[in-house]
Amino acid sequence: MINKDSNGNNDVFAKLATRDNVDQNEFDQFRQFLQDACGISLGDNKQYLVTNRMRRLMDEHKIANFGELVQNLRHGLHRKLKEQVIDAMTTNETFWFRDIYPYDHLKNNLFPQLMSGTNKMFGPIRIWSAACSSGQEPYSISMMVEEFKLKNMGTLPRQVQIVATDLSVTVLEQARQGEYDKLSVMRGLSNERLDKFFDKSDNSWRVKPVLRDRIDFRPINLMDSYAALGKFDIVFCRNVLIYFNADLKRQILQKIHAALKPQGILYLGSSEGLAGAGDLFEMVRCEPGILYRAI
Ligand SMILES: C[S@@+](CC[C@H](N)C(=O)[O-])C[C@H]1O[C@@H](n2cnc3c(N)ncnc32)[C@H](O)[C@@H]1O
Repeated sequence: MINKDSNGNNDVFAKLATRDNVDQNEFDQFRQFLQDACGISLGDNKQYLVTNRMRRLMDEHKIANFGELVQNLRHGLHRKLKEQVIDAMTTNETFWFRDIYPYDHLKNNLFPQLMSGTNKMFGPIRIWSAACSSGQEPYSISMMVEEFKLKNMGTLPRQVQIVATDLSVTVLEQARQGEYDKLSVMRGLSNERLDKFFDKSDNSWRVKPVLRDRIDFRPINLMDSYAALGKFDIVFCRNVLIYFNADLKRQILQKIHAALKPQGILYLGSSEGLAGAGDLFEMVRCEPGILYRAI
């Protein structure tokens, strides 16, 4: 059987097969590009995933085959294409109050500590949501600040600043907009918090300015320097280190350590660990989870 395209010529399946064909050398070059650009390590068996995710981009940029795509990326001629490839290869899965315990711990333990005794003499409490995806993490933190304020009326001597960063310009823009559809708000938000902290219009919910005003959204690649961000009391770096190899993990954890104030707190994802940076942090149990205190 011959499969014709819309012009009635060529074998469509044969053409697709040629375009999606990936030789090992090109695949290795693509992996190296991705690792250098954003730290993500792709396994040997990810060719199908890559071709699947690149197909739409190759169509959009009229790129004939995978080899041509790799050459474009290697020569760095096309900035938008590079951003789009990184966007397509990153996993942006996130939801509100992920794992719950970091947020409970923040509200019930860290805020009371940081707001009391001599601590209250210092400037604002600074929190960094590194790899914030579409914003659910920094907005969940901001809700904790509001709830703490409400519970401790008149006793909030320190302002809280949140810096939220991600490599992907697309998700960062969504985070900045702070507008979510029904599916997103159903993942981890109670009706009470939805009513209190969001304005509803048609089928979307927008975070109220009271949550957004304390958050500074910025594009930051964890592979680069964080020195310009200043020092933090608390860092959330959750569910991103799993994509990096052991060397990169260690380097990133070293830089995060340097960005923390003495005794500063790091929250990792619930399935992540210190990976070779155990000398920099003390592990602290906060049932049911774990947090890390800078040594
Ligand atoms: C799975 S999401 C985690 C979001 C959130 N921290 C959470 O736990 O729900 C991972 C995020 O890391 C970002 N990311 C991946 N590589 C990065 C890098 N090199 N620098 C900064 N962000 C990166 C992705 O764009 C994505 O939004």
